[in-house]
Amino acid sequence: MRRSVIHVVTSAVLLVSVHGVAWGVNPTGYGQAGGEYDVRIPRVPAGELAKAKKVRPPFDATPEVLAEGKAIFLGVGGCVSCHGAEGKGDGAAASNLPIQPRNFTNPKFHKLRTPGELMWVLKNGSMGQSGRVPGTGMLPVVQPKGFITEEQGWKALLYELSLGQ
Ligand code: HEC
Repeated sequence: MRRSVIHVVTSAVLLVSVHGVAWGVNPTGYGQAGGEYDVRIPRVPAGELAKAKKVRPPFDATPEVLAEGKAIFLGVGGCVSCHGAEGKGDGAAASNLPIQPRNFTNPKFHKLRTPGELMWVLKNGSMGQSGRVPGTGMLPVVQPKGFITEEQGWKALLYELSLGQ
C-alpha cells in the first residue's frame, strides 16, 4: 500500500519534470541528495522480485575475491567511470547522466537490497523505478557475449557491498 503511494507521487514528479529536459527526466533535487532515484523502490519488477531476491553469490567475499572485484570495478568492468573510485556515485561520467549512479557507501542501500537483486540489475540494467523511467545509464553489463561474465559481475558486486561496511 505504502509502495503504491510512493509510485503515484513519483509518477507525478516525473510528469512535471519531463518538460524541456532532453533526457525526459530531471533528477535535480529529486529523490535523494545528489540526484539518485529513491533507493527504497526495488529496481527489479514486481513479478521477478521474489525470485531475484533468493539468488545468492556463488562464493564468499574472501580478501582474494574482494581484490579481484576491485580490479574489475576499476578496470574491465568500467564501473568506476560512473560509480567513482570509492563507489560514492561520483565518477567522471556521472554528471552527464540523467539519474545519478548508486552510492555504494550509503548504508540504507545495503539494508534494502539483496545481492540477488543487484545481480538482476547487472544482467538486465536498471530502468529506475519499476521501469517507469527511460534507461538510467546502468546498462546490462553481465551478458553472455558482452562486457563482463557473471563470475566477474559477482566479484564486482561483492566488492561494492564491502564498501558500505
Ligand atoms: C554509464 C554509467 C554506469 C556504469 C558504467 C555502471 N553503472 Fe551501475 N549504476 C549506474 C546508475 C545511473 C545507477 C542508478 C540506477 C537507478 O537508480 O536505478 C546504477 C546502479 C547500480 C547498482 C544498484 C542497483 C540497485 O538495485 O539499486 C548496482 C549494483 C550497480 N550499478 C553496479 C554496477 C557495476 C558492478 C558496474 C560495473 C560492472 C556498473 N554498475 C557500471 C550507472 C552506471
